[in-house]
Amino acid sequence: MERPDGSAEAELHARLAGRHIVLVGLMGAGKTSVGKRLAQWLHLPFVDSDHAIEESANMTIPEIFKLRGEAEFRSGERRVIARLLGEPQQVIATGGGAYMDAETRLRIRERGIAVWLKAELPVLMRRVQRRHDRPLLANADPEATMRDLMAKRYPVYAEADLCIPSDEQPHEAMVTRVIEALTAHLEPPTDNPSKDNPA
Ligand code: S3P
Repeated sequence: MERPDGSAEAELHARLAGRHIVLVGLMGAGKTSVGKRLAQWLHLPFVDSDHAIEESANMTIPEIFKLRGEAEFRSGERRVIARLLGEPQQVIATGGGAYMDAETRLRIRERGIAVWLKAELPVLMRRVQRRHDRPLLANADPEATMRDLMAKRYPVYAEADLCIPSDEQPHEAMVTRVIEALTAHLEPPTDNPSKDNPA
């Protein structure tokens, strides 16, 4: 993944030209695990929007849902992501519902590259079983909920700049896929000699 001289990293930095990398996708898609490793590889800060929301509300996500309701969580999420997008370049893992907001999608388009980590239902279900802090799945049939969310959200996630399959491969392999796809997708920076030597 890493060339000894760091040239692959430098190349991707040049192509990103200061834009954030924003990971989107359903709960269990691997946004946080992949995002952290990607940020490490690029020597960029990493932020998880769910953590940033919890910090600014001084409450956990289940508490916000319970005490304030989902609508208020969503407006907090929109505000926090707008703030994160205004900060210097970083890798941002968003909560699964964040990209469903039209304003958030527009801001991401202006300031970042959206990468959708797309996983199949069994992969998602296996991964979400490890944690019990997702209010949307705290019901009698989380698999039906997930299926429903896939139907509603996948057409919107498809607006992301890139779609990377998220499967049973180790996270490192997914990071390599993201790096390769980003490098192929983004244009190399163009030299602009007229800027250096104005006529
Ligand atoms: C949500 C996903 C969660 C979190 C909240 C709602 C969603 O984030 O933001 O529980 O609507 O899909 P993760 O995708 O990081 O689990």
